[in-house]
Amino acid sequence: MIEGGIFMSEKVSRRQFLNYTLTGVGGFMAAGMLMPLARFAIDPVLQKEEAGSLVQVGLLKDLTNEPKRFDFKVKQVDGWVKSDAPHSAWVYKDENGDIVALSPVCKHLGCTVGWNDNKEHPEQFFCPCHGGRYEKSGQNIKGTPPLAPLDQYQVKVEKDAFYLGKALPQGGK
Ligand code: FES
Repeated sequence: MIEGGIFMSEKVSRRQFLNYTLTGVGGFMAAGMLMPLARFAIDPVLQKEEAGSLVQVGLLKDLTNEPKRFDFKVKQVDGWVKSDAPHSAWVYKDENGDIVALSPVCKHLGCTVGWNDNKEHPEQFFCPCHGGRYEKSGQNIKGTPPLAPLDQYQVKVEKDAFYLGKALPQGGK
C-alpha cells in the first residue's frame, strides 16, 4: 500500500499533491497570459506625461517688439491615441529683450484673441466674442468680460531658435 516517496506520505496524499501541483502550474500559466493583457490595458494610464518638454516654434530673428502669431503642433498621447495637437502663441520681445509668449485663448469663454485688430482698441489683444480686451502683457483690462490675464507659455532659447512649453496662468488680479 505504501509505495514510498512523498506521493504516499501520510501527510500529503497523491491526490492532494496533484491538486497542489496542478493548481500552482495553472496559476503560473494564467498569470503569464494575463500579465501582458493587464499591462496593455493600463500602460497608457501609468505612462508619465512628458513633463517639461518644449517644442521649437520659431527663430529669434523673426521676433520683434510687436506680438506675432506662431502656430505649432505638440505631440500628445491620450490613452492609446497619439496625435499632433495644434497650438498658437502671440510672441514678442519685451523692453528688456525677454521673450513673451502668450496663449491666444481668451480667459472668458475660450475664444481666440487677436492683436491690434480692433481699430477702437489699438495695441491691445481683442476677443471678438464678447469684447474682451488685454494689454500687451496679457493683463486683462478691467470692465471687460475676462477676469484673468492670458496664459503665458514657458519659453526656452537655444542657439537661434525659441522653444515653448506649457501655457500657464499668470496669476491675475
Ligand atoms: Fe473672450 Fe468672451 S470669450 S470675451
